[in-house]
Amino acid sequence: MRGLIPDSFIDELLARVDIVDVIERRVPLKKAGREWTACCPFHNERSPSFYVSPAKQFFHCFGCGVHGSAIKFLMDYDRLEFPDAVEELAQTVGLTVPREGGREAAPREDKTDLYALLDAAAGWYEGELPRSGDAQAYCKKRGLDAETIRRFRLGWAPAGYDGVIKALGNTPRRMELLNEAGMVASSERGSKYDRFRERLMFPILDRRGRVIAFGGRVLSSEQSPKYLNSPETPLFHKGRELFALWQVKQANQSLARIVVVEGYMDVIALHQAGLPIAVATLGTATTPEHTEVLFRAAPDVVFCFDGDRAGRAAAWKALESALPRLRDGRQAYFLFLPDGEDPDSLVRKEGKDGFEKRIREAMPLSDYFFNELSHDVDMASLDGRARLAERARPLIGKLPDGAFRDLMAQELEKRSGARAMLQADPAAHRAVQRPTAVQRSLVRSAISLLLAQPGLADQVEKPYRFLRLDKPGVELLAELLDLARARPGINPAMLVEHFAERPEYPSLQKLMAATVVGEAEAQAAEFFDALQRMEDQAVTQRRDALTAKSREGALDSAEKAELRELLAARVRPPVASA
Ligand code: CTP
Ligand code: MN
Repeated sequence: MRGLIPDSFIDELLARVDIVDVIERRVPLKKAGREWTACCPFHNERSPSFYVSPAKQFFHCFGCGVHGSAIKFLMDYDRLEFPDAVEELAQTVGLTVPREGGREAAPREDKTDLYALLDAAAGWYEGELPRSGDAQAYCKKRGLDAETIRRFRLGWAPAGYDGVIKALGNTPRRMELLNEAGMVASSERGSKYDRFRERLMFPILDRRGRVIAFGGRVLSSEQSPKYLNSPETPLFHKGRELFALWQVKQANQSLARIVVVEGYMDVIALHQAGLPIAVATLGTATTPEHTEVLFRAAPDVVFCFDGDRAGRAAAWKALESALPRLRDGRQAYFLFLPDGEDPDSLVRKEGKDGFEKRIREAMPLSDYFFNELSHDVDMASLDGRARLAERARPLIGKLPDGAFRDLMAQELEKRSGARAMLQADPAAHRAVQRPTAVQRSLVRSAISLLLAQPGLADQVEKPYRFLRLDKPGVELLAELLDLARARPGINPAMLVEHFAERPEYPSLQKLMAATVVGEAEAQAAEFFDALQRMEDQAVTQRRDALTAKSREGALDSAEKAELRELLAARVRPPVASA
């Protein structure tokens, strides 16, 4: 897929965006000399080893080793595929992504077709809604207004076994796509029929607002299942998606708090009541992946559950999935509703203000944690306190290293009287390794230093004398120099992106990361020094070869002259690191 976006566009894009802006919008950065730093968003740490270089338009973490351009950051952080990351970045700077050969030329595995089909299905269901009196009456009964129906693209799957198939499955290819998208089911005899029939349809959108699946609700309480969801498909992974996250992002520039509720109708009722901060899981427990997505959307996450036994169990599951994600600065709260109520019924009774008050008064995770663990132990007895400590320790051990973890450990100590004795999370203490120049060969050093400042290429004379050196990487260095000379002003990230589809790409990324922090002048000096040493080595290599040949008496006269010249030339001592 990557091949469809021209290299020149990637160049232009990387020249227009500023990686510091891109990252800063997601991870708060602090200025540190010429670079910006933060605690790495890709692993847990207390002190920052994540660096962003504005000059190089590159990020690098000395702790876990992640690195790359603004595009790579979006791919890693927002979990986007390459074309989506490019699209997203392009939007922020007002560029339109051109596709070579146009859309028709897209290869079959391109998911564009699947998205288009699901979007068409959502449109078709939307169109059916006004045609069904029952569906209309149901929406009215549930208090859904026209604006809400439009905003959530609610629709109606009519009765019959082939409504969607007739409307959208008119070629074998489209039938195949309907099947892949989970829109049709197969009978035992192999015939295909519409999966969703006589259901109010809730499209599930991904974080970019594209339809990826559906939930469908029956109108009468006699039928079951009450809700039917799309199966897992190439586009839809229940454990990762959140219903209405797109709508939440659309409604809020920045979010202080996000609320997770259990049902589609709960989300919709809260949005309609003026609280567009609610999302729901898709009929599954909250996974650690959900939690990560939630905390990336807002620093405070409020988990809202029914007060019944099932709700309590679900809440504890959510707590467990939140623990490993609770870096400093993130807070989780728990909101338990009175028995027999759900957010939908409550917000209708108490209004926006009433529900907001409940959100504000939600229980901090630490309170819920200790209450829950000690509710059936006798805290007055030594035994009881020991039991609390035993239960709490492994859970607190799941918290990332940080102030919150220290506080929880202190709290446990206070409550139980026992020392916390936590097992350190090995990942959190991984030694920070700073790559050093000595570990790299001369050629690799030169490449790495050139990647740091492509502008240096202008000062290298052609023909490149180091080309005579017979060492791996020499040709690549020459290629990089040529590319950098041909494109004045090219920045490091752009230069590396030119090799995106070449086998050298990963090593180039690593080499670039090695010099992401450093003084420009010192690095420039080191670069020219490396080139000089390579030339010297080339001379030594040639001299040794000719000397060996002359011992066999096999030199012609030109070679003899060359050898004399080489022996006369002053050559610096050989370099240990090469
Ligand atoms: N759910 C599901 N499959 C079911 C029942 C429920 O996937 N058979 C999921 C749906 O996402 C639903 C959520 O669990 O929205 C909560 O279910 P429930 O509490 O039963 O329903 P409500 O959201 O209260 O739905 P309604 O108000 O429409 O009855
Ligand atoms: Mn309900």
